[in-house]
Amino acid sequence: MTDTNEIVIDRVSESRLASTNFDDLVFGKTFTDHMLECNWRDGKWETTHIKPYGPIQVEPSCKVFHYGQAIFEGMKAYKDEAGDVFLFRPEDNWKRFNESAKRLAMPEVPYEVFVEGLKTLVNLDKGWVKYGEGLSLYLRPFMIASENGVAAAPSTEYKFMIVMSPAFAYYRGEVRVIIANQFSRAADGGVGYAKAAGNYAASFYPNNLAMEEGYQQIIWTDAASHEYIEEAGTMNIFVRIGDKLLTAPNNDRILNGITRRSVIQMAKDHGIEVEERRIRVSEIKEAAQNGELKEIFGSGTAAVIVPIKGFKHEDFKYELPVIENDYATNIKAALMDIQYNRTEDKHGWRVKI
Ligand SMILES: Cc1ncc(COP(=O)(O)O)c(C=O)c1O
Repeated sequence: MTDTNEIVIDRVSESRLASTNFDDLVFGKTFTDHMLECNWRDGKWETTHIKPYGPIQVEPSCKVFHYGQAIFEGMKAYKDEAGDVFLFRPEDNWKRFNESAKRLAMPEVPYEVFVEGLKTLVNLDKGWVKYGEGLSLYLRPFMIASENGVAAAPSTEYKFMIVMSPAFAYYRGEVRVIIANQFSRAADGGVGYAKAAGNYAASFYPNNLAMEEGYQQIIWTDAASHEYIEEAGTMNIFVRIGDKLLTAPNNDRILNGITRRSVIQMAKDHGIEVEERRIRVSEIKEAAQNGELKEIFGSGTAAVIVPIKGFKHEDFKYELPVIENDYATNIKAALMDIQYNRTEDKHGWRVKI
């Protein structure tokens, strides 16, 4: 697909690293010295460029502004005590990116551009990955329709880019959620399983309404009946009833989370019984009433696992019990030990830069 596997590197003349105050960072606002760019034109990918981070020029008629043909990924690079840097399951993100591309009628990005390009970029800006509990470099590969013209048809030109932003362990405070009974994140046959930019735009309004009521997130339910839980905000969802861990099965409305997949494997490694199946809201409410509901948590790259303290569904409100030796804490610790190279990686998830 590519003309060349060559990556042309144009380095910054002076790094911003030394003048960046890492104690005063706002997530997603500071970017490293370099970014990657590769354009699709005339039916093929052009040479990959790594260059100083900065503005790009596009015309107002650029298709992405009009029809939202845009996808992205979210991943992280971690540093261990010795200063080595690792990615976590990067090929999984590359594969999911290309599934999103296919659904949005965009060209697939070759391995050399996405994975090898990412490794080269991270290696160049290695100094921006800080060592410390919860510290990481957030990696944002994305692709936009870059052809000019407002005709409602797929673009003939695309821009694939990667930008990177230092991230720290963030504590969201206590998370309480509303289980959706009106709004939907995704529909059957739609793009919910893709990391399409528009999915996030569509979730902001219902999420704002939930926040006005004092809740931090929405548990999305199936669009057809609102009877089954599907995702927790921008995370996959897990529910512990008794000692069993339940999670919604993948379908075309749910993002196939890489953390979800890892949590399932970790849980099984710990001897926990995991069921991937549809979970009724009524089942959760019944378990809450009879004391069997032990934990609800979300999983995602950003925070690994976020425990949910309480939920509301219509008139029903419930506060989760505080329990000892909870799954959320144990599985999060086990996963972070792998990400930060503190333990054996028996599933081969870590990729050293
Ligand atoms: C809608 C949605 N669900 C789930 C996830 C979790 O996916 P992953 O574990 O691959 O980060 C994300 C992204 O973080 C997401 O945006």
